Amino acid sequence: MRLPARLSLARLPTPLQRMDRLSEAWGGPTIWVKRDDLTGFEVSGNKIRKLEFHLAAALGAGADTLITCGAAQSNHCRATALAAPPLGLETIALLRTPDGNPPARSEGNHLLMEIAGARIRYLTPAEYAERDSVMAGVAGEVRASGGTPWVIPEGASDALGMWGYVAAMEELAAQLDGLPPMAGIWHAASSGGTTAGMAWGADRLGMEAPVVGCCIGEPAADVMARVAAIWAEAATATGEEPPERGPLLIDDHVGLGYGLATREELAIQAEATRLTGMLLDPTYTGKALVGLKREIGAGRYGPGDHVVFWHTGGGFAAFLEGFRVVR
Ligand SMILES: Cc1ncc(COP(=O)(O)O)c(C=O)c1O
Repeated sequence: MRLPARLSLARLPTPLQRMDRLSEAWGGPTIWVKRDDLTGFEVSGNKIRKLEFHLAAALGAGADTLITCGAAQSNHCRATALAAPPLGLETIALLRTPDGNPPARSEGNHLLMEIAGARIRYLTPAEYAERDSVMAGVAGEVRASGGTPWVIPEGASDALGMWGYVAAMEELAAQLDGLPPMAGIWHAASSGGTTAGMAWGADRLGMEAPVVGCCIGEPAADVMARVAAIWAEAATATGEEPPERGPLLIDDHVGLGYGLATREELAIQAEATRLTGMLLDPTYTGKALVGLKREIGAGRYGPGDHVVFWHTGGGFAAFLEGFRVVR
């Protein structure tokens, strides 16, 4: 597969592990976990795969300052803030908070961004809705002060970041060689870049397994619209047709909404940790695994099936005070 320029920032390939105790306890399919929580410690998770392409492009363009955005606990902004220093790049992170003020306490990913020296600005939800123009404005400020900005959209979820997961599918395909067919490639979906790359890659590689995005906050139609927009941008950039088969997006397990978890969900996540030794985050991977368990309960996957659960990282959220209180 021909890919755009890329830096080598993630520890790849990440392992594909069979989690027999989890499969047994949940009485369903054989669960294989693709461990993208192990792409690196500081930069752990799915975002570093996308950043390999964005940061290569940033360096290629002679940039000295990265501008990006996300929630106050954004894994993407944390990975950006920690990937930038060794490359000699600065990071400006625009973080969404309920009132546009800094969070009451520094913890989790937000604390790590501060330690990494990211320059942080806080946006209200209304300002965040205009994030692309806000970032363009900040890029103008950087230029005015003699710098060269590189803007990375939310989650690095655009046609460039998407290649991280197209390449990741090639990696997975090699690991699946010789294994039984997979009934699904299950993962947490939000800003759409991961899902877009997986489904594009699956199509180009002729993989049969359906790519299944478990929405963790947004309605499925919104995530699908984002995937479609990324594909349209990628089609223009490459001259290739987007895949005919879209991903399956399921939004039945969003629960209380983005970044919120019920006691029952946290209990299922803790159960999964006790059966696998893997740390899950309540916002993304924990919620997606809860969704998988419920879908197994509803009969979507049975004992004869094999399923990939793609662990996309987010472990630092396990330390958040809010979730400790609920648990
Ligand atoms: C740990 C984790 N998993 C999954 C996702 C979802 O990926 P995407 O935004 O590409 O849909 C995110 C995005 O923030 C994440 O941080």
